[in-house]
Amino acid sequence: MLIAILLVLAYLIGSIPSAVWVSKWVFGLDIREHGSGNAGATNCFRILGSKAGSAVMLMDMLKGFLAVKLVILSGLPHYWEAYRNLEVFLGLASVLGHIFPIWAEFRGGKGIATLFGMILSIQPAVAVSLVAVFFCMLYLTRYVSLSSITASIAFPVMIVFIFNAHELSYKLFAIATACLVVLTHYKNISRLINGNESKVGFFRKKKD
Ligand code: G3P
Repeated sequence: MLIAILLVLAYLIGSIPSAVWVSKWVFGLDIREHGSGNAGATNCFRILGSKAGSAVMLMDMLKGFLAVKLVILSGLPHYWEAYRNLEVFLGLASVLGHIFPIWAEFRGGKGIATLFGMILSIQPAVAVSLVAVFFCMLYLTRYVSLSSITASIAFPVMIVFIFNAHELSYKLFAIATACLVVLTHYKNISRLINGNESKVGFFRKKKD
């Protein structure tokens, strides 16, 4: 029963629609009607500016980070495998909340910042490595979406080959994450294929 309550709590935390609330309450618009239509930090950077974008990114990361920490309330010893499995499920519940938020008509974001907060909470070294992959790709292409997709595909590879994780839950989670990110980015993938995906302004090459 306690585990079910913690999972619902994690979902409710993930459901806090930072991008929607910041755009509505501070700027008087719904971010989902502008730019890419995504209720996430990237679209807030694009439409509302760097301050709002940074605030939304931090809030979304915090959701994943805190949801994982709910594991402490379970009373499970931290060295049990059940503890690590619960961390993964709590984090995933918050990511699902972010994508399908109960507080915002189930129309949320793509899960990247919340996923990152979750990974930072469980495996900080993996999170830092994924940031490196993300920024390398962003530097090379200037596509945030492609960088997010690349980092998420790098995630299971790193978990298995670099960090040598033995927990089945970590491996399954990493593979599920890569699939989820590809799914939530299906519109970006179509725009990338058609050549009309928007690029970020920084890392601009001279000839652009
Ligand atoms: O984190 C979301 C990002 O990868 C893409 O966002 O607004 O360009 O669809 P957006």
